[in-house]
Amino acid sequence: MSRIAILVSGPSRGSNMQAIIEACRDERIPDSAVVAVIASRDDAPALQTAHALGVSTAVVNPREFPEADMYGDALLWVLQKAQPDLICLAGYMRLLPAQVVEAFPMRIMNIHPALLPLFGGRGMYGLKVHQAVLESGMKVTGCTVHFVDEQYDTGPIILQRCVPVEDADTPETLAARLLPIEHATYIEAIRLFVQGRLRVEGRRVRVSE
Ligand code: GAR
Repeated sequence: MSRIAILVSGPSRGSNMQAIIEACRDERIPDSAVVAVIASRDDAPALQTAHALGVSTAVVNPREFPEADMYGDALLWVLQKAQPDLICLAGYMRLLPAQVVEAFPMRIMNIHPALLPLFGGRGMYGLKVHQAVLESGMKVTGCTVHFVDEQYDTGPIILQRCVPVEDADTPETLAARLLPIEHATYIEAIRLFVQGRLRVEGRRVRVSE
């Protein structure tokens, strides 16, 4: 059985988290379970949802550590206790500490609400991303699931899916159109991972039959 840990940040609703938990339970992601949800704040709405779904939760709050390195060590310790095969960032807005990335090479995924490498990087999250897409004039946008490396949004791309940008769109309408596509894309990427069908070659992620 594949063990999945999910990291969420303070403001996250947890809709991607919930979609992953449910997909494991109904076997759309085969032979897998979400074994831990770890939030960066104890008031994260996603924590309540995880509780209600009976998933164990933990909080590692970076503000409670005097140095970034200590936060990284604490997060790594909590993650290692959960013994995950895969870690999924689902609305995790910080740069993941280097020691965590090093400990789980090509075993950490993130979902980003744009077509990377466009509209990524520090400070690009949530509605800010959709605002930037609208300002750019692009006629399509989408989501990206990628492996996580030491920088923001730069790791090898696993899957991308597109949605149209409509004339009347606001950041909110664009986000709402994309969200169900995000859920489906993340579930698909995780399914490919647990089935052992992803192979990373440099920047390219190949999917085998
Ligand atoms: C999602 O739209 C996700 O793509 C985005 O945060 C939202 C979390 O929603 N992530 C980023 O912007 C990361 N840079 P959720 O809590 O409902 O899953």
